[in-house]
Amino acid sequence: MAKITYIEHSGKKHEVEVANGLTVMEGARDNNIPGIEADCGGACACSTCHVYVDAAWAEKIPAKDAMEEDMLDFAWEPNELSRLTCQVKVTDERDGLVVQLPEKQI
Ligand code: FES
Repeated sequence: MAKITYIEHSGKKHEVEVANGLTVMEGARDNNIPGIEADCGGACACSTCHVYVDAAWAEKIPAKDAMEEDMLDFAWEPNELSRLTCQVKVTDERDGLVVQLPEKQI
């Protein structure tokens, strides 16, 4: 279980507990957090689950694989902190993770 903080583009924060084994995308979906659309359901095929990971966490989560890297090219204004939340698993080690939502998805 990990507490994940999702910050909307407006600055509105949502702090929720997410079970281990779910993805950060599923944590948003299950808690009705607006701004993560996840159109493909987590198949790394849509880029609408894009977030910017807090800089303090960027090195603490596993690196992107080639597929995520490619899909991020289709995301809205990606940068070096961009991740697809369907590719980031929740674990105890990620307790306190903070992600910022983009202005929009695609
Ligand atoms: Fe489609 Fe993550 S949900 S790429």
